[in-house]
Amino acid sequence: MDRIRIVGGNALNGTIPISGAKNAALPLMIASLLTPQTLTLENVPHLADVEQLIRILGNHGVDYSVNGKRDHQNGGGNGYSRTINFTAENIVDTTAPYELVSKMRASFWVIGPLLARLGEAKVSLPGGCAIGTRPVDLFIDGLQKLGADIDVDNGYVVTRARNRRLRGDRYVFPKVSVGATHVLMMAASLARGETVLENAAREPEVVNLAECLVAMGARIHGAGTSTVTIEGVDELSGAKVRVIPDRIETGTYAMAVAMTGGDVLLEGARPDLLQAALDVVAETGAEITPTNAGIRVRRNGAGISPVDVTTEPFPGFPTDLQAQFMGLMTMAKGKSRITETIFENRFMHVQELARLGAHITLSG
Ligand code: UD1
Repeated sequence: MDRIRIVGGNALNGTIPISGAKNAALPLMIASLLTPQTLTLENVPHLADVEQLIRILGNHGVDYSVNGKRDHQNGGGNGYSRTINFTAENIVDTTAPYELVSKMRASFWVIGPLLARLGEAKVSLPGGCAIGTRPVDLFIDGLQKLGADIDVDNGYVVTRARNRRLRGDRYVFPKVSVGATHVLMMAASLARGETVLENAAREPEVVNLAECLVAMGARIHGAGTSTVTIEGVDELSGAKVRVIPDRIETGTYAMAVAMTGGDVLLEGARPDLLQAALDVVAETGAEITPTNAGIRVRRNGAGISPVDVTTEPFPGFPTDLQAQFMGLMTMAKGKSRITETIFENRFMHVQELARLGAHITLSG
């Protein structure tokens, strides 16, 4: 799409079905590398990143098939979510090349399952990224702790498990990382013995992945808390798992309604996945009501109040809603302060909002 033209001035009213979460679908798809059997994922959103990951997994030998075209179960899916079967019966290549990994950072995560199942992997470093440097040191540290030998050579992370199998250990993340938690949880599921991950990410997508791994036969406790214990098993089987609703999409629409006024039902949305963000939206003056069908967001008449926000790992206010919230705050009656603590370069929208007439000062 080259251009989106918006004629402003209307309140938003109606029902929006919330899609499956991209950030949950990607690690679940990658988990299919852990087993020769079929992993069926329901409520997979129809997005460019999903198509790109299908290509990347295909390069390793993963076959896929799509069941039907639409998925209306639970009201979720925007009419575009699908059920997709992934089968990694034969892994034909343990290398993830730069041309593919550089297109989507999360594809680096294949390193975990490839190493755990085949004892080796060669995965390109993801390369530059618009929201900061985003290093992979935690992945390397953590996998080394599980017994992997790792070299970084010509832009590739080349790794082998000693005796072709990882072994469990205790790893304390020096910093909370969603991706590194996903990877170490997948890797430890097939390692010999017990792994304890401390200071693990608590994001709902980590819980969704743990549920998937458990359905595949993994032994995992504590996902969703900062200590996750994984008792390694010899092999994993197929399973059928549903992708959780997208909390970022939910929060984005909630903020849109808070901005324009109106009355919208976010169908299939789960308040527990973004309570901190919903509390903030309520503080700005919108009315948030969880219902059996999802979340209803309303704002009638009253102005928008300024609220200060700091991004944090889950259960705090998510960095992925920071830009949208700044949009909302440009319309507030008064001053607000927004602090980004997760990514060092995630204020590129400031200049663009300023061009539209917003009064924003960047400090630090
Ligand atoms: C995931 C989400 C992304 C979200 C982010 C934080 C997906 C596909 N993406 O990204 O939308 O914004 O979580 O909620 O799920 N870090 C290191 N070393 C590492 C790994 C990470 O220093 O080895 C740093 C990062 O640079 C960043 C912080 O840790 O400053 C958090 O990053 P992380 O949680 O890993 O983000 P992603 O998993 O890449």
